[in-house]
Amino acid sequence: MDDKLKGFYEVALSRRSVRKYETKPVPIPVLERIIEAGLWAPSALNTQPWFLHVLTGKKRDEFAVICRVIWDKLKPVIEKRYGPEGVKLRESFYHNLGDAPAAIVIYADNDDSDDGWTLVSCAMAAENIMLAATAEGLGSLYMAAQLTIREQIDAFFDEDRKLVGCVLLGYSADEPKAWPRREVRVDWGDSWNTDKSHDTH
Ligand SMILES: Cc1cc2nc3c(=O)[nH]c(=O)nc-3n(C[C@H](O)[C@H](O)[C@H](O)COP(=O)(O)O)c2cc1C
Repeated sequence: MDDKLKGFYEVALSRRSVRKYETKPVPIPVLERIIEAGLWAPSALNTQPWFLHVLTGKKRDEFAVICRVIWDKLKPVIEKRYGPEGVKLRESFYHNLGDAPAAIVIYADNDDSDDGWTLVSCAMAAENIMLAATAEGLGSLYMAAQLTIREQIDAFFDEDRKLVGCVLLGYSADEPKAWPRREVRVDWGDSWNTDKSHDTH
């Protein structure tokens, strides 16, 4: 495997959801590169339906304050799924978005003929952003929890597009464990019998 290939798999497999950040800002040129990666994501019919609000500094702080109320809505769900340890980790996280110094809030164009395509396209952009962040040595977290307070978030940005989610970015102050992946989530069919070229690389 050459270095470029190895580098890609290292990035893809080492990305973790980070919920504790250093307050050190992310340099704007780094944010620009990461966002550029997001904008090169594939999109349905090449619609590129995303709109990104980049938040740093005061605006990010205001956003974090609005997001505080999410915890009240989410606590029972988290308690049920992750138990007391999960509650402890996330309670402090929701107080100030884990101190993440930057956030990108993703909106999608409104589209009547939408079959989920715009959301999927925006999710592709989000994943590109998070992989680029990992490659830049940053932590990241995708959040859909803002959807529980959609009205407040829309008012904050004066938005009438469709809120998709939020990506937090910053230097990690944590080493989150890798959650094991579920087994047998792939059906290979008879690929191994029909494809005789396993050793081409
Ligand atoms: C669509 C989506 C929504 C998510 N929403 C949240 C969220 O609101 N809050 C949060 O702390 N993590 C959120 N996550 C992160 C997941 O909890 C995380 O990806 C999962 O636990 C696996 O951990 P890993 O990303 O470190 O592999 C979300 C992830 C996805 C893909």
